[in-house]
Amino acid sequence: MASSGSARLLVASNRGPLQFTERDDGQLEASRGGGGLVSGLSGLGSDGVVWVCAALSDGDRAAARKVEGGRLDRDGHDTGGMAVRMLDIDPATFHRAYNAIANSTLWFIHHLLYAIPTAPAFDASFHREWSSYEAYNRAFAEALAEEAAEGAKVLVQDYHLTLLPQVLRDLRPDLRIAHFSHTPWAPVDYFRLLPTEVARETLLGMLGADHAGFHSPRWARAFAACCVEYLGAEGDETQVRHAGRTTRLGVHPLGVDADALRERASRHDVESRLGALRDKLGDRQAIIRVDRTELSKNISRGLLAYRELLRRYPQWRGKVTHLASAYPSRHDLPEYREYTAQVQRMAVEIEDEFGTDDWRPIVLDVTDDYARSLALYRVGDVLLVNPVRDGMNLVAKEVPVLSENGCAVVLSTEAGVADEFGEDALLVNPFDVSGTADALDRALSMSREERRARTDRLAEVSVRLPPSAWLAAQVEALD
Ligand code: G6P
Repeated sequence: MASSGSARLLVASNRGPLQFTERDDGQLEASRGGGGLVSGLSGLGSDGVVWVCAALSDGDRAAARKVEGGRLDRDGHDTGGMAVRMLDIDPATFHRAYNAIANSTLWFIHHLLYAIPTAPAFDASFHREWSSYEAYNRAFAEALAEEAAEGAKVLVQDYHLTLLPQVLRDLRPDLRIAHFSHTPWAPVDYFRLLPTEVARETLLGMLGADHAGFHSPRWARAFAACCVEYLGAEGDETQVRHAGRTTRLGVHPLGVDADALRERASRHDVESRLGALRDKLGDRQAIIRVDRTELSKNISRGLLAYRELLRRYPQWRGKVTHLASAYPSRHDLPEYREYTAQVQRMAVEIEDEFGTDDWRPIVLDVTDDYARSLALYRVGDVLLVNPVRDGMNLVAKEVPVLSENGCAVVLSTEAGVADEFGEDALLVNPFDVSGTADALDRALSMSREERRARTDRLAEVSVRLPPSAWLAAQVEALD
C-alpha cells in the first residue's frame, strides 16, 4: 500500500483520549481520558501527530460516525491540537476482541488469573473470538497505513494490539514501529496455556515491531523466553532475532508527571474531600488503597490481611481506618461484577467483626471519584499495593509524590514498580496474607521520620521517567 497520509508520528491504543456519553436530550458529552499518554504526547508537539483509537461505547460510536473517518479533531472536539481518529469497529467484533480476547484471555494469561482446574477451555467460540481480534487489529493497521507519511513512526500500545505490528509492516514496510506492553508478560509455562497457533501468532505479531518496550526487565525476559521456546528465535532481554529480522527490546519504566499531578491534587474538589476525610479520621492512621476493581489487584487478599492485622495486633483496633477505593472496571465481564460484590461482602464482614459505635474500621468506596482518590493520596499514612502481578502500578508512584506527612508503602514483589522501589517499600508476597498483615503492622509502627525519609526517596524514583520522557525514549528507540 502506498503512503497516502501526512502523519510523522502515530499512536495506536484501544482506549483513546476522549470518551463520549449520550445525554437524555441526545447531545454527546465528551470527557478526557488517556492518562499519561495525553500529557506525554503534548510534550512531543501536536503537529503531524495522529492518535488512532477504538470507539468503546454507543456514545463513542455516535461521535465517530458524525465525522468522516472518525476524525474527532475535525468536529470541534478538544483533542489538544493533535488529530484523533476513532475507529467505529462493528460492535460485535469489538466486543469479542476487547472483552473475550484482550480482557478475558491475554490479560488473564499475563496476570496468571485463571482458576486452572476449570479454565481456560478454548473451544469453537474461542476461535470465532480470535478471528474478531484479528479483524480488530487489521482495522487499526489499515487506518494507520492510511494516515502515515513515508517513514513515519508508530507507537502501538498494549495487549489489545499484539498482532498489529506485523499486519502494519506487511502493509507499509517503510514505517518504523514500536510496541509497548503496559502489562507483565507471562512466564513460558503459563503462556503455553494458549493454543499453540494463537501463541505463535501473538509473538509473530509483536515481532513485526522494530522495538518492543516493557516496564520491567522481568517482562522483557519473559517475552524473549516465549519467542525462543515457540519460534526457535534467538534472544535475551535486549533483543529477539527471528526469520532474518531483529526486534530490539527496551525497558522504560513509566513514571509520574509531578507538576501536573500536584496541580490537579490542589484543586478545590480535592481540598473539599480532604476536609471531609480528615474529619472522619480524627487522629487515627489511614491505610489507603486505590485500584480499579480488578482481579489482578488482589483486593480480596488485602482485606484478609487487614482483618488478620486487627485480629493478631489488637492494639490497632480503634487506632486505624482502612480507606479503600475500588472504582468500577470492565463490568461487562461477569468475573469482575462478582469480584466487586465479593469485595463488598468482605468489607461488611470486617465492619461486623470489629466496628464499634465510634469506630468504623473500613470505608470501602466502589464509585469513580478521582478527586477523592487524590485526597486519599495526600492523607494516607500507609499505602497497600498488593497485586498478584502488575506491569508497573502507577498508584504506588503517585502517592509518594503527593503524600503530606510521609506514607509507608506495603508493596507486592510482583508489581513492576517493586524493581525500582526495592527495600524503601515494605515488600510482600501478595499471596502471603499473614506476611502482608505483619508488613501493615510494621508500616503503622514506623516512626514519622523514617516514613518521611522513605517517602522522599520513593518520590524521587517515581518522577525519574515522566510520560513525556517515557514517550520520547520510545520515539528515539526507533531512530
Ligand atoms: C490497564 C491496561 C490499559 C487499560 C487500563 C484500563 O492499565 O494496561 O491498556 O486502558 O488497564 O482498562 P480498560 O479496559 O478500562 O481500558
